[in-house]
Amino acid sequence: MLIQALDTAIQNVEKAGFLDIELDPTLDLFAEIEKLKKEKNAVLLAHYYQEPDIQDVADYIGDSLGLAQQAEKTTADMIVFAGVHFMAETAKILNPEKKVVIPDLKAGCSLSDSCPPPLFKKFKEQHPDHVVVSYINCSAGIKALSDVIVTSSNARVIVESFPKDQPIIFAPDKNLGAYINKVTGRNMLLWNGACMVHEIFSLEKITKLKVRHPEAKLIAHPECEEPILRIADYIGSTTGLLKYTQTDSSQEYIVATETGILHQMMKASPEKTFIPAPPNNSCACNDCPHMKLNTLEKLYLCMKYELPEISMDEELRLAARKPIERMLEISAKAGL
Ligand code: 13P
Ligand code: SF4
Repeated sequence: MLIQALDTAIQNVEKAGFLDIELDPTLDLFAEIEKLKKEKNAVLLAHYYQEPDIQDVADYIGDSLGLAQQAEKTTADMIVFAGVHFMAETAKILNPEKKVVIPDLKAGCSLSDSCPPPLFKKFKEQHPDHVVVSYINCSAGIKALSDVIVTSSNARVIVESFPKDQPIIFAPDKNLGAYINKVTGRNMLLWNGACMVHEIFSLEKITKLKVRHPEAKLIAHPECEEPILRIADYIGSTTGLLKYTQTDSSQEYIVATETGILHQMMKASPEKTFIPAPPNNSCACNDCPHMKLNTLEKLYLCMKYELPEISMDEELRLAARKPIERMLEISAKAGL
């Protein structure tokens, strides 16, 4: 009976992507989550784009590289990944023996979706002399077709680790790829993918905002398009952007990335002003709809019932692991 009920629950989670159980609104979810962490020896890893409540209850908040490094070294029995699917999948690739759960299995990524493995395989076959460098925002299928994985904080160092004359395919983000081409003087062949959040910023509105806030610095994630990056005062990963606002002496910043990062910026520098860069639409928000599928309620339920869980084919996992390990090795050598 119990096994049958569990099977039905798992099937329901697979359909909905998350556990849909009505919670008592008087439940102190922060306290319950802390209790579950101890009971289950679980570690809660969260990306900066998660909602503030989730960030506040996380054991570690970081960018994609920091999260992968934490996942690699954790001694917890269960990894609870408050982020999107490719991030939790990376944690599972590194920890086959551990349970990896995510609050909402449907938390995907437009950038990852823009690079389907069968199409990419054909593209790669057309360029047999190229090595494949892939941004971590891709599926395990793309990772398995790659020589090395990069994130926005180590892409430059990793690309520069190849000889200057080595032909390279860079996938899936054409904006990050173009930025790395510019700063390294390379001519990597770029897959035509992009992130829906970082492509939305309006150059015209940002220019007007800069006129009204002449002292404000524009800081941007390298997933932004070239015209935005061209006028940025600083370009970096989410961790890079956060650190910059902590060490730089300005008082005002226009932030061209997902708004979740503002929570840590405001916590670290409460005396400074952070203005989200305006998007090219009538809605004034730059939220990632995938990241924001995770909620504190779903997080609590996923920890309690240990569902939905990330699972994957072992052959695919082993093939996807190699380029991730190479990334971690190069990053460690570079002190990143
Ligand atoms: P980083 O946090 O590694 O800069 O990546 C941003 C991002 O788009 C994650 O989806
Ligand atoms: Fe993907 Fe963009 Fe969302 Fe990051 S912000 S998870 S790249 S869609």
